[in-house]
Amino acid sequence: MIFCQTKNELQNALKAQGTNPIIGFVPTMGALHEGHLSLVRQAKRESEIVVVSIFVNPIQFNNSDDLQKYPRDLDRDLDLLKEVGCDIVFAPSEAEMYPENPTESYAFGDLETVMEGAFRPGHFNGVAIVVKRLFDLIKPTAAYFGEKDFQQLAIIRALTEKENLSVEIVGCPIIREKDGLAMSSRNVRLSAEDRRIAPQIYKTLRDSRDLIDVFTPQQMKAFTIDQLNKIPRTKLEYFEIVNAKTLQPIENWSDCPRRVACVAIWLDDVRLIDNVKI
Ligand code: PAJ
Repeated sequence: MIFCQTKNELQNALKAQGTNPIIGFVPTMGALHEGHLSLVRQAKRESEIVVVSIFVNPIQFNNSDDLQKYPRDLDRDLDLLKEVGCDIVFAPSEAEMYPENPTESYAFGDLETVMEGAFRPGHFNGVAIVVKRLFDLIKPTAAYFGEKDFQQLAIIRALTEKENLSVEIVGCPIIREKDGLAMSSRNVRLSAEDRRIAPQIYKTLRDSRDLIDVFTPQQMKAFTIDQLNKIPRTKLEYFEIVNAKTLQPIENWSDCPRRVACVAIWLDDVRLIDNVKI
């Protein structure tokens, strides 16, 4: 596995792979877990070369406390990536990624006015800036993103369309702990007590989904919000049932065939997101 910290090292490592290999790319912010590794494994099955980036992207954090407390463990990440057969790791410094203050501005219309976009101003522009720069450097054949960040996946698809990029965007299923909690780098910040409470979030989403035959979308939303508000030590940010393509809230189940229920909730001082397809 080749470890690169500068764009130059990355270019050299890529050149050494021969002409036009099929490159699978997995962008991450490190503190890797099985969710990330599942993306790397899928990339590995479908590509000749797998590149993983590790970069805690400051410009996508709209909360300085969250950025400061974001878990970092590069040595462990490298061990895990070696085990799953990653070929090239790119872990640039902030100065390497942003020698000057980035000024690019991307607009995603209605896709970014809801949910994460509404509650985390500037977040998706920060994501789009770093992902576009990484795509330009790596020129992947395909890039792998988790459905855990459902809205991010939609934004990245929109970005590649808008910018006419030739990369194929592959969405991968959410990997969960045995008790149902969606894996997240932020989970390590949960206290033991909060870790015991956290699986109730997914359980609530699943229990609501099972009531699709008796509820309208509005009724399901009201019921689920009620249930989520009963989980101790939490503060709900949003719960929405949306069209999986447009991410706009739906009026009737018949409005669209693919629907997803998305939640963002604070458990103590840790912000967790999750979603289920309905
Ligand atoms: P990060 O949160 O590290 O996630 C990297 C990738 O792993 C994302 O595509 C995310 O959706 C996926 N992922 C995280 N948890 C997952 C889980 N439990 N199951 C499946 N996939 C999961 O998302 C980011 O980093 C950043 O925004 C990034 C795209 C790297 C840009 O900075």
